[in-house]
Amino acid sequence: VVLVVDFGAQYAQLIARRVREARVYSEIVPSTMPVAEMLAKNPKAIILSGGPSSVYAEGAPRLDRALFEAGVPVFGMCYGFQLMATTLGGTVDNTGAREYGRTPLHVSKAGSTLFEGTPVEQSVWMSHGDACSAAPEGFSVTASTDVVPVAAFENDEKKLYGVQYHPEVLHSTHGQQILEHFLYRGAGIQPSWTTGNVIEEQVAAIRAQVGDKRAICGLSGGVDSAVAAALVQKAIGDQLTCVYVDHGLMRKGETQQVEKDFVAATGARLVVVDAEKRFLDALAGVSDPETKRKIIGREFIRVFEQAQLEILQEEGPEVAFLVQGTLYPDIVESGGGTGTANIKSHHNVGGLPDDIEFQLVEPLRQLFKDEVRMVGQELGLPEEIVQRQPFPGPGLGIRIVGEVTKERLDLLREADAIAREELTAAGLDREIWQCPVVLLADVRSVGVQGDGRTYGHPIVLRPVSSEDAMTADWSRLPYEVLAKISTRITNEVADVNRVVLDVTSKPPGTIEWE
Ligand code: XMP
Repeated sequence: VVLVVDFGAQYAQLIARRVREARVYSEIVPSTMPVAEMLAKNPKAIILSGGPSSVYAEGAPRLDRALFEAGVPVFGMCYGFQLMATTLGGTVDNTGAREYGRTPLHVSKAGSTLFEGTPVEQSVWMSHGDACSAAPEGFSVTASTDVVPVAAFENDEKKLYGVQYHPEVLHSTHGQQILEHFLYRGAGIQPSWTTGNVIEEQVAAIRAQVGDKRAICGLSGGVDSAVAAALVQKAIGDQLTCVYVDHGLMRKGETQQVEKDFVAATGARLVVVDAEKRFLDALAGVSDPETKRKIIGREFIRVFEQAQLEILQEEGPEVAFLVQGTLYPDIVESGGGTGTANIKSHHNVGGLPDDIEFQLVEPLRQLFKDEVRMVGQELGLPEEIVQRQPFPGPGLGIRIVGEVTKERLDLLREADAIAREELTAAGLDREIWQCPVVLLADVRSVGVQGDGRTYGHPIVLRPVSSEDAMTADWSRLPYEVLAKISTRITNEVADVNRVVLDVTSKPPGTIEWE
């Protein structure tokens, strides 16, 4: 394992992903972890991330010198670089000379371990206030910028390396190459971490954990639960039962994807609970978005627990495991624990026996989203499931502004299917993050179609680009594609006489309308 020590901000996750792109397994640890504990993980190399602090700020994270003396190769980036410099006796000044953004880097030692084979002049991404003016003893300076005399250094003998900039971001033109040089040349690591290895490893781990007991997995139609279920299915076969609650709020074809394509690809045992009527009854007369969400969430838990109960009754109490599609970013963000948690099922509503405690199986807890997709692909899941864009749990229920009814759902499903079809045909799926299609059910406007006046509903297109859904911008889709979607929806979907485009970023608008 390569450890990425997290000094805050968002850099560590990106670095960890880049290391994995170099086919080396990486894990993130907090900078507060004692060095002895880091070393106990037996890392082949350690990377120190950037962070928001100045090394001179009060309470700024520090590092025990022992980290640099353990014989483990270390690569410091940005804040990690400055920390390495000050800890080992170099000089970092608060010069007031700041560099932000794209910066020309002058490589002074072209044959160095990190820079070998890369251009003497390259563009890098900087973000710092303090600057290193003297490298620690035993280090040679390998690059500078117009502002910073020491922008990179290395001590090949001790296997210690550092750069002032952020090699992990794409704006640093040779960043990945430099990271790979550290891993392969500096630390002597072989690139061997592949999707195939992940599957093999996880299958073995699941078998060891579950033994001859039984497991349940809730499928949502999303990527994570599908890949988690497929992995567990591969490991324990028919000891797994998948449960899919059809709440009637899915998009066109999605329930069939789970019922047919997922089962065909994995051979999993699937219980489909048709709960459409139950959900629609519960939603009748409700227009308030938060109330809708609460009702859908509550009904979902009730139905899922009822299904669990039936499986328990049928198969006996040895159903001890619940599969969840938790991803690595969730784990890191919630503090990075490595143990397996037990959860008590919410037995207050579903009538599960009091003493049922499921143990969680989380086969994706080491993976990033793009890695999950690769694993899914390798397991043979259909493209439509593996490349699926984010879709909210409450489904189309929160894309109908107004009361949710069967007729309105059917209408929205048609409009949504057309939009998706045309976006796919135009090759835009990878460009947009997601494109909610929203029905303004309580709004009517006048139109004219054929010879007659119409009084129909507007459909809103909400295509957005985003990195993580926290912020988003509206996608500048080609006019021809928008025109085609508009024409088709107004022609093919009864009761819709207008298509409008949402041109709001997030903030101030959220991605969904409710
Ligand atoms: P907003 O609308 O808050 O959405 O900008 C951000 C992202 O989250 C998705 N979303 C949900 N996902 N359950 C989910 O699983 C929900 O209740 C939910 N609400 C919003 C939304 O599609 C977008 O990707």
